[in-house]
Amino acid sequence: MAALPLSHAATLDAPPSCGEKTLTDDPFVTGDTIVAGAGAPRLPDAPKLTGGSRRTVVPRVVEEAGQTKLVQGEEERYRRESVIGQGGMGEVAKAFDRDIGRTVAVKRMLTEVTSPTLVARFVDEVRTLGRLHHPNIVPIHDVDLDPDGNLFFTMPIVDGVPLDALMERLEKRDPETLAAFPLSRRMDVFAGIVDALGHAHERNVVHRDVKPANVIVGPFGEVVLLDWGIARLDGEERPGSESEDPLVARTSEKTRHGHVVGTPHYMAPEQARGDVSAIGPATDLYAAFVVLYEMLTLTTFVKAETATLALAEVASKVAPAPESAAYVPEGSPIVPAELRHFLRHGLDATPARRYPSAAAVLAELARIRSGDFKIECPVTFSKRASTVYFRFVERSPMLGLALLGSVLALALSSIVLAVILAIR
Ligand SMILES: Nc1ncnc2c1ncn2[C@@H]1O[C@H](COP(=O)(O)OP(=O)(O)O)[C@@H](O)[C@H]1O
Ligand SMILES: [Mg+2]
Repeated sequence: MAALPLSHAATLDAPPSCGEKTLTDDPFVTGDTIVAGAGAPRLPDAPKLTGGSRRTVVPRVVEEAGQTKLVQGEEERYRRESVIGQGGMGEVAKAFDRDIGRTVAVKRMLTEVTSPTLVARFVDEVRTLGRLHHPNIVPIHDVDLDPDGNLFFTMPIVDGVPLDALMERLEKRDPETLAAFPLSRRMDVFAGIVDALGHAHERNVVHRDVKPANVIVGPFGEVVLLDWGIARLDGEERPGSESEDPLVARTSEKTRHGHVVGTPHYMAPEQARGDVSAIGPATDLYAAFVVLYEMLTLTTFVKAETATLALAEVASKVAPAPESAAYVPEGSPIVPAELRHFLRHGLDATPARRYPSAAAVLAELARIRSGDFKIECPVTFSKRASTVYFRFVERSPMLGLALLGSVLALALSSIVLAVILAIR
């Protein structure tokens, strides 16, 4: 079993305010996103945006004495209802849109963590969502200011369970969750994440914070990748000032090349090193493979309990060898050999040796699922050989049976011959 429960990857466990942790925070931080500039108190020059929160514009229609009257409302457009999630950058709440008459999800910045860099990141998240249009990515409806001058944006509420909560149930071997999530469905979840990433990468967006807490799995198997709060657009890095960036200010040998942003336990080695120029689509795909590894083995990939230790562990981390016991989890299906090789390629420490794109990952997964995987060990050789044979039987059943008969006859006569020779 894992040294750490998978549930520790949940940002919902983070403290209610300033949930983001810096590298030097040592309490339990396994699932927290490191955001340059986060954790700082509201700075003296913290932006206070103006513009006023929007009021309803759609009038109330009243039928009175056979006449239609329009009553202009003066209420705030969104009525906040309940908090549905909290991360480091902001809070996500359910709200009722009085104009359109529907419930939406509202993500707003937390007032305690305000700095120009963080507002800029929030703006980036808004613009990133505006650029993306994909069934596995939640779309943005609108952006606005609340009465305190804090930016927020609205989006549809994704119906489903956060993947970290789902993995926690799998890890506890909850029979219902195990039955609902056989390996094939776990692969579907992975494919959904990779599909979303492929779309983002085509539009020059790198997510940089792929982890179970940022994925929601819907009741019909829908997979939605959320939280583009630290995504990088067009290869540009937000500069951030040293004084407001706790990571840069307390830089170490490992981080001096740039900002370390992301969640240590899901970071690729180049991201953990803060090697900004090496971060790209392969970095996101690595994180998706960490998620796949954890979904299949039901153990954490990175075992360290603090951000600092996790960054050190990731730097030299390789996936366990195919024969490792990690792939034979108790009370959960054995991870097939071809998937073990798939994981090992996806989790290569060198970006150039990983799959070159999301499309390549999905193509390889499709090959694996159809039995056309590469031969990489005796197990994959025998599995491929049997696939080839069974396909032959489908095409020519009689010939196939004849072939099987002759092989069996040959094997039987060899045994008989061996016994005779032994008796003599
Ligand atoms: N559109 C949504 N529908 C339902 N739940 C959501 C939605 N957006 C976010 N959440 C929930 O809120 C949590 C925090 O949102 P996220 O965008 O990850 O914020 P942060 O940047 O603070 O981590 C998510 O982990 C998820 O559980
Ligand atoms: Mg998040």
